[in-house]
Amino acid sequence: MKSEKYCLLCEQIKALIEGERDVVAVMANVAAAIHEAMGFWWTGFYRVMPKADGEGKELVLGPFQGPVACMHIPFGKGVCGTAWERRASVVVPDVEQFPGHIACSSLSRSEIVVPVIAASGEVVAVLDIDSRDLATFDDVDRQHLETICSLIAPLF
Ligand code: SME
Repeated sequence: MKSEKYCLLCEQIKALIEGERDVVAVMANVAAAIHEAMGFWWTGFYRVMPKADGEGKELVLGPFQGPVACMHIPFGKGVCGTAWERRASVVVPDVEQFPGHIACSSLSRSEIVVPVIAASGEVVAVLDIDSRDLATFDDVDRQHLETICSLIAPLF
């Protein structure tokens, strides 16, 4: 059962991050743990970072598992930028039906993006997961992935 897999995964992640302070190391192992446990197509983080020109912020690719992906995503663009803008998880059953979806891989069919929200209330990163099947993600995924993001949020 998916829910049971996530429960084990959450315990594994709690143990992995115990006493750790380096957010990149933690994101790397969390992405690997989710990817391996759940068998997704692409699992990774984008961080909210200052833009090179100093004009505001953008999402920049962070630790991930899977094929190479786009490195910069503007606020409000694609599924990731939308989750950042809404400050809420976005579940996309069919990426072709999501206006503005950014196709890093033509094999991705469905997607979930969960924001990592710091204690200040600011979105500091997003967790993005892609599947090669349609409608892979539901409320069970959303709830558990939100728990995982809340576990790592204090490290940012
Ligand atoms: N599809 C995402 C872009 C990132 S890749 O899926 C890894 C989006 O629309 O924001």
